[in-house]
Amino acid sequence: MRRKIIAGNWKMNKTPAEAVSLAEMLRDRVNTDNADVVFCVPAIDIIPVAEVVKGTNIAIGAENVHYEESGAYTGEISALMLKEAGVKYVIAGHSERREYFGETNTMVNKKVKKILEHGMIPIMCCGETLEQREMGITLEHIRIQIKKGLYGLTADDAEKVIIAYEPIWAIGTGKTATSGQAQEVCAAIRKTVEEIYGSKTAEKIRIQYGGSVNAKNAAELFSMPDIDGGLVGGASLKEEFEKIVNY
Ligand code: PGA
Repeated sequence: MRRKIIAGNWKMNKTPAEAVSLAEMLRDRVNTDNADVVFCVPAIDIIPVAEVVKGTNIAIGAENVHYEESGAYTGEISALMLKEAGVKYVIAGHSERREYFGETNTMVNKKVKKILEHGMIPIMCCGETLEQREMGITLEHIRIQIKKGLYGLTADDAEKVIIAYEPIWAIGTGKTATSGQAQEVCAAIRKTVEEIYGSKTAEKIRIQYGGSVNAKNAAELFSMPDIDGGLVGGASLKEEFEKIVNY
């Protein structure tokens, strides 16, 4: 049985002081008995939020990382820095980073490797645009993202990766994929992992759905056979996140 994993993606929201208040409120409500719970927070909020959740089972995630070890990369943050700050999970290749900051599958692959090298767990995102869905090339697009993103990883490393399927047309739009649509793609992702690494790895790897997950749709989405939890944006900034975790 794969354990569910539910991660909040705070995106570019919450100053350090606001982040502490939100983390304290959620810490006192979320139940970590049945699922791994992660707060992926802005880089500057990592240290104060890690302090708030110290001694609980809530893990801290980062929203991005650079793929080089260190050096002249003004404005960037390294995996080593994140690790030392208490980060356990790192999002790689969120569609907003791909769209607004030019992240490619090759960069995502380098990030995934760097995150693993430092003993953290990548949350590797994939997802199609509305145009790709309408053209009927969703699965082709996702398969390429998965194959390029995992390229060169051993099976031992691949099974640690969390894959987040996030249809771009469902992110922040209030338009959720139906549980059938989400299941279809998550099953195809697992199949792709099976083709590369075999059934043992495919059975173990955890696949999240993301895109307008809320307290009302979480239970149905998370009950699908190939959906092992969610990556939650807007609803992770509110009390509602507790209901999603305790779906
Ligand atoms: P959303 O964002 O829940 O606000 O749609 C999800 C995400 O981008 O991870």
